[in-house]
Amino acid sequence: MTKIVVTGGAGFIGSAAVRLLVKNPGAEVTVIDKMTYAANRANIAPAEATGRCRLIIEDICNAAGMTEIIAAERPDQILHLAAESHVDRSISGPRDFVETNVLGTYNLLEAARAYWSTLAGAARDTFRFLHVSTDEVYGSLGDEGLFTEETPYDPSSPYSASKAASDHLAKAWHRTYGLPVIISNCSNNYGPHHFPEKLMPLVILNALEGKALPVYGKGDNIRDWLHVEDHARALALIASKGRPGETYNVGGRNERTNLQVVEAICDTLDRIVPAERSRRGLITFVADRPGHDHRYAVDAAKLERELGWRAEETFETGLEKTIRWYLANEKWWRPLRKSVYSGERLGLPAGAKA
Ligand SMILES: NC(=O)c1ccc[n+]([C@@H]2O[C@H](COP(=O)([O-])OP(=O)(O)OC[C@H]3O[C@@H](n4cnc5c(N)ncnc54)[C@H](O)[C@@H]3O)[C@@H](O)[C@H]2O)c1
Repeated sequence: MTKIVVTGGAGFIGSAAVRLLVKNPGAEVTVIDKMTYAANRANIAPAEATGRCRLIIEDICNAAGMTEIIAAERPDQILHLAAESHVDRSISGPRDFVETNVLGTYNLLEAARAYWSTLAGAARDTFRFLHVSTDEVYGSLGDEGLFTEETPYDPSSPYSASKAASDHLAKAWHRTYGLPVIISNCSNNYGPHHFPEKLMPLVILNALEGKALPVYGKGDNIRDWLHVEDHARALALIASKGRPGETYNVGGRNERTNLQVVEAICDTLDRIVPAERSRRGLITFVADRPGHDHRYAVDAAKLERELGWRAEETFETGLEKTIRWYLANEKWWRPLRKSVYSGERLGLPAGAKA
């Protein structure tokens, strides 16, 4: 059995990784998750049903707790995804981002180091700590060029700054202590089980309910979109075949402006569930996000060349699958829209106009 600990495994990307990992009958997964607003036990229900996935509800900010759990679980791999992940929330309340993303990562690195130092032979050689990060650490691109693994860090938001800090810690734990750490930096994900505060699910659900579709600024900010299951495949591959000490960029070569994304959602919905009027009529331009990066685009050539990874979904196939998932899973999102987050604007400085 390969024992894998996934932190943040009840969230959007973590749960996609967990659902994929348990497809291997030789894998056993332990999820460590604090179960914040962004987590949902239903996300890992299919994995738990295999009998090879269990959830430990714990905060990665609990240093002693992390040391104890990692020592008891004796994992072959740790996939570290637990994080505060929403840029707008980081603007309104950065403290949680520093605590979880920076100090929580520090606790896990230390817990992993304490456990790894007790290992010998093959177990010590094959142990891996995969620190899952974002392309946002690289800052903003102009109209040309791509982020490579060598692009200098230049984060803009409290979220990306906290992720950049955690990447530096992860790198240092490899260089200083030899801990077999690998870092992955991925572009914007979309897909099923995405908490409805993020652009795609928010727009899909607002459009279904005939509500305004908020687009920040002029909608000309560019993101590089990757289906979450392609990201999960990349993570499983990097954790088992990636080289310790290395960084791998993950991206879909699917650059779209935010306005193009919103229009594509409208057009796909109009085709699948026609309404009286085109949903494009619901598009509403709102105040821009402070410090809004202009463009992200990732060069994933290293991951493709070294590990043979390829994205399986195009933007069009992935988007249609995602929309169909939200249409079929109202039971998943309806309670979240009612009681956890109903679509109000987040991340504007006090007094600013939405
Ligand atoms: N969403 C994206 O487009 C994207 C892209 C690249 C990288 N990432 C990175 O991938 C990781 C997962 O992102 P996501 O979109 O799935 O986020 P998410 O917000 O959906 O999930 C985060 C999970 O972490 C858990 N968590 C938060 N604080 C915790 C704590 N203190 N202790 C234990 N668990 C805690 C939450 O309960 C949740 O289950 C993050 O590290 C993020 O930076 C995200």
